[in-house]
Amino acid sequence: MVEGKINYLRQRRGIIHGGGGDSKIAEQHGKGKQTARERLAQLLDEGSFVEVGMFVQGNMQDAGTLDIPLPGEGVVTGYGTIDGRIVYVFAQDFTVSGGSLGEYHAAKICRVMDLAARNGAPFIGINDSGGARIQEGVMSLDGYGNIFYRNTLNSGVIPQISVIMGPSAGGAVYSPALTDFAFMVDDTSYMFITGPQVIKAVTGEDVSPVKLGGAATHNEISGVAHFRAKNEQDCFSKLRKLLSYLPSNNLGDPPVFESAEPSRPAEELTSIVPVEPNKPYDVVDVIAHIVDGGELFQVHEHYAKNAVVGFARLGGRAVGIIANQARVLAGCLDINCSDKIARFVRFCDCFNIPLITFVDVPGYLPGVNQEYGGIIRHGAKILYAYSEATVPQISVILRKAYGGAYIAMSSRSLGADFAFAWPTAEIAVMGPEGATNIIYRREIEDSGNPNGIRSQKVSEYRERYANPYIAAARGWIDDVIEPAQTRQYLLAALAALKDKHEDRPRKKHGNFPV
Ligand code: HXC
Repeated sequence: MVEGKINYLRQRRGIIHGGGGDSKIAEQHGKGKQTARERLAQLLDEGSFVEVGMFVQGNMQDAGTLDIPLPGEGVVTGYGTIDGRIVYVFAQDFTVSGGSLGEYHAAKICRVMDLAARNGAPFIGINDSGGARIQEGVMSLDGYGNIFYRNTLNSGVIPQISVIMGPSAGGAVYSPALTDFAFMVDDTSYMFITGPQVIKAVTGEDVSPVKLGGAATHNEISGVAHFRAKNEQDCFSKLRKLLSYLPSNNLGDPPVFESAEPSRPAEELTSIVPVEPNKPYDVVDVIAHIVDGGELFQVHEHYAKNAVVGFARLGGRAVGIIANQARVLAGCLDINCSDKIARFVRFCDCFNIPLITFVDVPGYLPGVNQEYGGIIRHGAKILYAYSEATVPQISVILRKAYGGAYIAMSSRSLGADFAFAWPTAEIAVMGPEGATNIIYRREIEDSGNPNGIRSQKVSEYRERYANPYIAAARGWIDDVIEPAQTRQYLLAALAALKDKHEDRPRKKHGNFPV
């Protein structure tokens, strides 16, 4: 009797484990994609996955038969561990009705979202789906709504991570858009609101799915995705790495690792940044000489490359790094990098990750396109994000820090706890050339030797104003430090800020300038 029941249980489990069946699984493999269960096995610590809601089934008529039309409702849900820490997960099963999302499919996802939030654990969704299950109509749409609602409530409470490993079309893209990070895999994943056929019909434009919404497009052009992977294995190893920098929830701290010295001697810092204010260099080299093991894990690496953001460790503790990249657009702040910086700063602030900002910025990017595109409101996001942040904030001015961009990049006025400057720093309203042309215009024009007078005035201006000491005299720069000692200063400052706690006035929420 009992054996019979156990046998029946095993049969039911077997059917659900088999997903859409062998031929659908072969098709999935043929596209270079793994099944939902294979993916979970690869992502999670070996043997750690525990399924939740395996038997959920919409429209069950008779529990006595083994007729299960949509095994698992097209999604596998549960929990497991990554490097020993609990995470809650779902993986859509494309072999079952194209992983389409119906009422019970959504209910299974919502169940693990609620468990993740209640238990303070990260939530990871592996998306591979034809979108709203057409046969279930408005029930599917309501299912999406329930997921979006939870994405929003859980935002800033637990890290939420989306992995796109197949199609994600229509409104289905909005759950990934509401989560903290989206990973995409080359060649097999794509995201769009309306696909190529609709676009062709409406606008006449011809575009392939991958060109329209593939990993390269969303990592380089739209900024919708934060990470790009060569294949599924590469994607999961990047995701595991990301998690190593994050706490499990907003009340915890990121894991602490053994501290490793940077791989190269810090003395080299003195020569990496050219003294000539307009000469390019790679700020990633600067960061590598300062952080543990020289290792920076970039977020949005391929997007808005005039800024660099990412995670690193200092003294074994996770920090968020933000830097202007002088070799792209001279490191100017533009619309896209404002989004990139502000979003990253806010993420770190939600999850107790201190902010270290390396500044070398000539200003906001001039241009009609930038003004028409709303650089004013986009640029304001950086000001808002830094001002709002209450985690430890430290800035280091490497070279130029001009005008509004000086204020925007983690200045003391916006709440930085400590601001340091290298002796090469130039902190001023604008660069010497621009300033000279304005304040000495008459003198230059009236002289018989405009070029000579101009260059004389430029050198005078540089000497008098373009240095760190005027700001330091006011206390806006806490110390002028030798480049080679930057790591030591940052380690000491982080230790001094370890127990920082700052309360803000109570309010429902601010009105972030979106
Ligand atoms: C029901 C679906 C489905 C869907 C796919 N299938 N999408 N079933 N609802 N949305 C089923 C197919 O019928 C097929 O069933 C199986 O999944 C595999 O699909 P194929 O088309 O054979 O696979 P492929 O050639 O790889 O194409 C995948 C696809 C295509 C590009 C995703 O299936 C497709 O275009 N689907 C529709 C996409 C779409 O328009 N979705 C609605 C988006 S709007 P069998 O039985 O043959 O195995 C939306 C609104 C959300 O999602 C709003 C939120 C607010």
